[in-house]
Amino acid sequence: MLTRRALLLQRDSIYYQWLRGHFFLPIVGFAAMVLRIKSAFAPAFSEVHNFNSSTVHTIALPPSLLSRLLFILSPSPLAPQYTPYLTLFHDILALLILYNTIQAVRHLRRLQWHTLNSRVKGVVFNAIRQAGPVRRKLEAETRALEASLERSLRPPGWNKGSYTGGGRRSLPTEGLAAEALLREMEGFVAKEERKWKGGWVSGAVYGGEEAVGNLMGRAVALYALANPLHPDLWPSVMKFESEVCGMVCRLVDGGDPDVVGCLTSGGTESILLAVKASRDRAWAEKGVGKAEGEIVACVSAHAAVHKAADLMGLRLILVPMDQTTYQLDLSAMEAAITASTVLLYVSAPTFAQGAIDDVAGVSRLGGKYGVSVHVDCCLGGFILPFARRAGFSDLPTVDFSLPGVTSMSIDTHKYGYAAKGTSVLCYRSKAVRRYQYFCFPSWTGGLYVTPTLAGSRPGALSAACWAALMHVGESGYIERAGAVLRTARRIAQGVREGIPGIRLLGTAPAMIVCVGGTNGLDIYGVGDRMSKKGWNLNSLQSPPGLHLCCTLRHVGREESFLQDLREAAGEALEEIREGKTEKDKGSIKGNAAIYGMAATLPAGPVNEMLGTYTDCVLKS
Ligand SMILES: Cc1ncc(COP(=O)(O)O)c(C=O)c1O
Repeated sequence: MLTRRALLLQRDSIYYQWLRGHFFLPIVGFAAMVLRIKSAFAPAFSEVHNFNSSTVHTIALPPSLLSRLLFILSPSPLAPQYTPYLTLFHDILALLILYNTIQAVRHLRRLQWHTLNSRVKGVVFNAIRQAGPVRRKLEAETRALEASLERSLRPPGWNKGSYTGGGRRSLPTEGLAAEALLREMEGFVAKEERKWKGGWVSGAVYGGEEAVGNLMGRAVALYALANPLHPDLWPSVMKFESEVCGMVCRLVDGGDPDVVGCLTSGGTESILLAVKASRDRAWAEKGVGKAEGEIVACVSAHAAVHKAADLMGLRLILVPMDQTTYQLDLSAMEAAITASTVLLYVSAPTFAQGAIDDVAGVSRLGGKYGVSVHVDCCLGGFILPFARRAGFSDLPTVDFSLPGVTSMSIDTHKYGYAAKGTSVLCYRSKAVRRYQYFCFPSWTGGLYVTPTLAGSRPGALSAACWAALMHVGESGYIERAGAVLRTARRIAQGVREGIPGIRLLGTAPAMIVCVGGTNGLDIYGVGDRMSKKGWNLNSLQSPPGLHLCCTLRHVGREESFLQDLREAAGEALEEIREGKTEKDKGSIKGNAAIYGMAATLPAGPVNEMLGTYTDCVLKS
């Protein structure tokens, strides 16, 4: 049974308000329009109201129940001198109805089955969870989830032998010796680097070469206190940042010297700022209303664009991807463009299946409709510009020579091999970059302007990034891009040659190799078996999959990855052949359980699960 509180919650919910806002007037209006149309064919009203239906056809309605209802709105019978006002009133009403109907159709066009399904499930779930027994059961489940997450994040003895102990919540009374602290950190690092150094981890550490690491370590030490917010105090950091931006822009400017950049803290911040710049530009140059902006992106777009839309009050319109290549559907993108579109978002490549979207096609759409285009080249920025020279001429040109491209995000902390915490956001011109800045001239603290999201920033990371780029150099990047691409192609080829139960998802054009299950194989179960063998792969959903984002750490590890994948899939298939059900195996564990549950639940409880996980990570 629904409690009264649950019903009230539903009534106040955003979905209810959304329905009321967008559909109430059109429904009323539609009824009124039907009456008006009917009236044109039914002059019978004149008999009832006693004046000439040919001059006042708008109120010449049949004496039906609905017409009587409508007449509550207008004095009846009307004196003939008021009829022009009534006609005007009806015409204004008709225009309002038309406007709202167009709005409603636009909203309906954007309803997608999975979001609608999740919203409906969410409303039902929210209502049910208010009931006492369900609430108590959910609370117990959440506590159990917390305990199990805690065990997996901090297994017993995880920091055994630590000099400083674990779970500290207060400052040491007396400061500890620097040497002892460094020894402790070296101990942690030695344990933690085994996995990524050994090439067991998808993405995460893209280079990890000792020479580059040592150089960056020294740069960080030298600039630990530097803050680019004060270029007068650290002009050398200003030099590093402008040179990093210059070097990265030259990789993708397509010969256009106007292309400029800006250093950010990573791919997510670059994407947030690209969205802000395009939104503010559309406000200023296209007259898009402040409450109306829309971004059109593919379902495969990185989560950062969802975060950006959420933070900036923009609506994100998602278009589907091709189910073979996993590239965005260009015609669906074109159909989704409206006068409110502030940005078209395209990836080269996408995070999940590693597809390189049709950037040239999206650039054409941007030009045709006068809309900004952002290319998420966070992963591809240091691979695609070198691909041809590394012998991979089948990869497309993705740069500012495509005239519709307005901005590109390129992560120096990925295949630029810099320390974590830097990315470059490139813009077609200084004028476009301007929209990214935050200026606050009337602050009591003085005239304030920041180019990026942060206020103070770590100059040490800018210095380390500059040092890495200068040290690796052009020939170094060409060589490394070739090595990464060859590794990914070999693994993709191995999967194509045939691993029973496994199929390649997409075409693996660049560094990501993504696989799914066939013959009833649960790919997450294969992922859990790969984890037992030591691999740390990314689990993906819609469609279910696993991927390996190849880095320099995987060069030479191709055959052992393929062998482990073959074994993991073989074991899983064997269980299917033996007719073992999940019940026989006991409770399903690991990612298979988590993703299985997430696929069946609406967004609300999954969000809670993610919140619980984050609470555990942040626990202090
Ligand atoms: C395609 C793509 N875009 C954006 C991002 C976000 O980058 P970051 O984690 O540096 O914020 C990633 C991260 O993997 C990515 O793969």
